[in-house]
Amino acid sequence: MAGHLDLLVGVVLLASPGFGISSCSLDARVALYRFRNLTQIPQVLNTTERLLLSFNYIRTVTTTSFPFLEQLQLLELGTQFTPLTIDREAFRNLPNLRILDLGQSQVSFLHPDAFQGLPHLLELRLFACGLSDAVLRDGYFRNLNSLSRLDLSFNKIHSLSLHPSFEELSSLKSIDFSFNQARAVCESELRPLQGKQFSFFGLADNNLYSRVAVDWEACGNPFRNMVLETLDVSGNGWNVDITGNFSRAIGGSQTTSLILTHHVMGSGFGFSNLRDPTQDTFAGLARSSVLHLDLSHGFIFSLNRRLFETLKALKFLNLAHNKINKIVDQAFYGLDKLQILNMSHNLLGELYNSDFYGLPELTYVDLQKNHIGIIQAQTFRSLEKLNMLDLRDNALKTISAIPSIPTILLGNNKLVSLPNIRLTAKFIQLSENRLEHLDDLYFLLRVPQLQILILSQNRLSSCQQSHTPSENLSLEQLFLEGNMLQLAWEFGLCWDVFRGLSRLQILYLNSNYLNFLPPGVFSDLTALRILNLNSNRLTALAPGSFPASLEILDVSKNQLLSPDPHLFASLSVLDITHNKFICVCELNMFISWLNQTNVTIFGSPEDLYCMYPDSFFGVSLYSVSMEGCDEEEMLKSLRFSLFVVWTVALTLFLVATLGVTQFRGLCFLCYQAAQRLVFGDHPQGTEPDTYKYDAYLCFSSKDFEWVQSALLRHLDRQYSDQNRFNLCFEERDFVPGENHIANIQAAVWSSRKIVCVVSRHFLRDGWCLEAFSHAQSRCFSDISSALIMVVVGSLTQYQLMKHQCLRGFVQKQQYLKWPEDLQDVGWFLSKLSQHIVKKEKEKKKDENIVMQTLATIS
Ligand SMILES: *[C@@H]1O[C@H](CO)[C@@H](O)[C@H](O)[C@H]1NC(C)=O
Ligand SMILES: *[C@@H]1O[C@H](CO)[C@@H](O)[C@H](O)[C@H]1NC(C)=O
Ligand SMILES: *[C@@H]1O[C@H](CO)[C@@H](O)[C@H](O)[C@H]1NC(C)=O
Ligand SMILES: *[C@@H]1O[C@H](CO)[C@@H](O)[C@H](O)[C@H]1NC(C)=O
Ligand SMILES: *[C@@H]1O[C@H](CO)[C@@H](O)[C@H](O)[C@H]1NC(C)=O
Ligand SMILES: *[C@@H]1O[C@H](CO)[C@@H](O)[C@H](O)[C@H]1NC(C)=O
Ligand SMILES: *[C@@H]1O[C@H](CO)[C@@H](O)[C@H](O)[C@H]1NC(C)=O
Repeated sequence: MAGHLDLLVGVVLLASPGFGISSCSLDARVALYRFRNLTQIPQVLNTTERLLLSFNYIRTVTTTSFPFLEQLQLLELGTQFTPLTIDREAFRNLPNLRILDLGQSQVSFLHPDAFQGLPHLLELRLFACGLSDAVLRDGYFRNLNSLSRLDLSFNKIHSLSLHPSFEELSSLKSIDFSFNQARAVCESELRPLQGKQFSFFGLADNNLYSRVAVDWEACGNPFRNMVLETLDVSGNGWNVDITGNFSRAIGGSQTTSLILTHHVMGSGFGFSNLRDPTQDTFAGLARSSVLHLDLSHGFIFSLNRRLFETLKALKFLNLAHNKINKIVDQAFYGLDKLQILNMSHNLLGELYNSDFYGLPELTYVDLQKNHIGIIQAQTFRSLEKLNMLDLRDNALKTISAIPSIPTILLGNNKLVSLPNIRLTAKFIQLSENRLEHLDDLYFLLRVPQLQILILSQNRLSSCQQSHTPSENLSLEQLFLEGNMLQLAWEFGLCWDVFRGLSRLQILYLNSNYLNFLPPGVFSDLTALRILNLNSNRLTALAPGSFPASLEILDVSKNQLLSPDPHLFASLSVLDITHNKFICVCELNMFISWLNQTNVTIFGSPEDLYCMYPDSFFGVSLYSVSMEGCDEEEMLKSLRFSLFVVWTVALTLFLVATLGVTQFRGLCFLCYQAAQRLVFGDHPQGTEPDTYKYDAYLCFSSKDFEWVQSALLRHLDRQYSDQNRFNLCFEERDFVPGENHIANIQAAVWSSRKIVCVVSRHFLRDGWCLEAFSHAQSRCFSDISSALIMVVVGSLTQYQLMKHQCLRGFVQKQQYLKWPEDLQDVGWFLSKLSQHIVKKEKEKKKDENIVMQTLATIS
């Protein structure tokens, strides 16, 4: 059947619009006339080798229908929409025809001499032609000396009584009677085929032997003196009795592959009226040298004792899609040569030590899609040749009974943790389990000889103790997508998980919620070629993040703001689509790199777009112009010199005031009082500008009490009328229910300044670090820093530098420190206020002027 389907699919594809319908022929050797409304055979060149005439309205084919086509090898005349009459010697003008396809044409008249004059015909396709018994009985296939394949499936044949001329078909190798109505086949009917060897004999779906009482004594062996490579008797509704009688009847006829799928043997689940096969059922096949027995798609519930005892030569046993729940002792006894056992899609719940007894040559057990929850310790121990075990889609909670074999598939079970067993394997698949601890990952990485490890879709997130990763690991491919490594890494733990993987070539870390890459995490991966970081939350990539060997990198669907193109120097392919690029001058380098790089950039130009500022939202990076950015660079350096001068002046001033420091609190109070006298009691209001808030106050929620009493009470307008600032902070101003990142971004971009209160809690809070990164990224766009960092508590420079996102800031910018001495608090608050109020003296022209959208090319 598969052949027919392929053919039909091919036909449909070829017939689909745009594929040669309008042209009559592809070249002089192929004449394509499908779906042409033809009623007659068209005139074609005498050089034609393939003439395709399916899907037309041709009614009659006679001797004169075809011109003499000496070269023609393939004629398709199937699926005519009108009944087809085929007269005597209809194809005589096609003396070299190899394949004649009449499939799915309703043949209303077929002359007994229709196929005469075709000495080279190899294949005759007559499926679904509405043919009756006569086609076998009346010698239609006389003289087809080369005929090798005859397809008579899907017809109306009730009796397989063959004309004696079948005896002359010395080349016949494959004959298909599937989907007919032959209720029984006996020795006398197939006698003309005796002495032949068949690669395929199809008798499926005929209700063979199941609707009539068969006297097997009289019927004999239909395949006497035949050698069959594949005998297909599926779908005939055979129960245990019929199978037993048939096996006995054909005993001695060599049948390499017996296909008996879609049978009705077995009691099924919860029934007992039909029997499961027993020791006798297949006993008749003892002398048939069966190598492959396919019993899939049935109702076998119990594999009885010594069921396959006589099948000494069997190599492949397929029991998939039954209802097997019970394996009786010694069920597989005698299968001394069995190599592959397929028991997938059954109802096994547990496996016992005795289940696979007596299978010395077994290499592959397929047990996927059962309900196996527990496996006795020695179950697989006797299978000395086993090298592949498929236990996917079961209910396992432990792997302690898994043997050391090259390939182990354990996907979609219920594994929460792995025992510390001795295990050797080359390929381990553990995706879609519930593994949580990175201990299990360290354990697996130490498995000797392991080359491929698949741990996708688990819950790897917790890292408790430190591990000693072993050196010289053989691993080549590691799949960790769909875990939660961020949770482990954000506490600074397990950063060494890839240590020593010097042969690793492929690493998948997509969908792990990563918002940073631990420094040096890939430094040992000197052979890494492919890295997938897709669908994480990375905002920045530090220089030197990737090994020099890297060729293919996927960082799409992250939150990269302004990536440094130097990172991508070694690549040949890069996917960086769907990030959150900030289209300001800092992105200039990346944009011009994109324009001229040799690296293959994945995705369409529309998938690389600006996210900020708002006026550029959604604009493709390829249509953003960077004109004017060089000017900005100059301005920036000028400002920097000014800043240096100012800093020097300030330093001098500070030296001068050193003397006053002893009484600084008092002095400051006096100064404030004097100021009030001169300027009046009202604090200066801040000038209105484009920002919604004066500052976004970013701090760990654990510090809220402190921040409230130390800062908010003295600065925020809602806390006191004396205060001058309109502040924004998470607890009050974030939109509930909104995506947290979106809230942070909104806050960052709608506040003039961002004040980060960096405490111990802050450093442990992933959201705070996230906010810091966002704020920093805005600094890229504002020339003077919009970010103010206030360090609270005794945090050393080193502790700050340990955090990658803070490091850059701490190195380049000044930050404020909350005073240790209480008398300095007033002064500090005033200084902080100044910082908040301080405007960029020459507020940059505005990014929007600098960056211009070019008209999109299309
Ligand atoms: C075949 O006939 C149908 C109905 O008359 C018509 O729609 C179709 O275009 C014709 N096809 C060709 C290839 O002439
Ligand atoms: C095809 O026909 C042409 C004349 O129409 C003739 O010359 C040529 O020999 C023919 N070729 C074959 C292969 O018969
Ligand atoms: C199987 O063969 C035995 C003995 O010939 C006969 O009694 C029985 O009815 C047969 N069963 C079927 C289903 O043909
Ligand atoms: C076992 O049978 C299932 C279902 O038909 C199939 O998907 C699987 O590939 C088979 N396994 C082997 C080893 O043939
Ligand atoms: C690791 O491999 C290197 C070379 O591949 C070898 O020199 C070294 O001895 C190995 N170390 C161990 C502990 O096996
Ligand atoms: C891309 O490069 C070409 C020259 O190689 C230049 O003409 C064009 O302006 C560049 N486009 C952008 C957007 O930089
Ligand atoms: C791109 O490839 C060409 C030729 O292969 C080479 O001359 C050029 O330097 C490459 N450019 C970059 C940016 O690597």
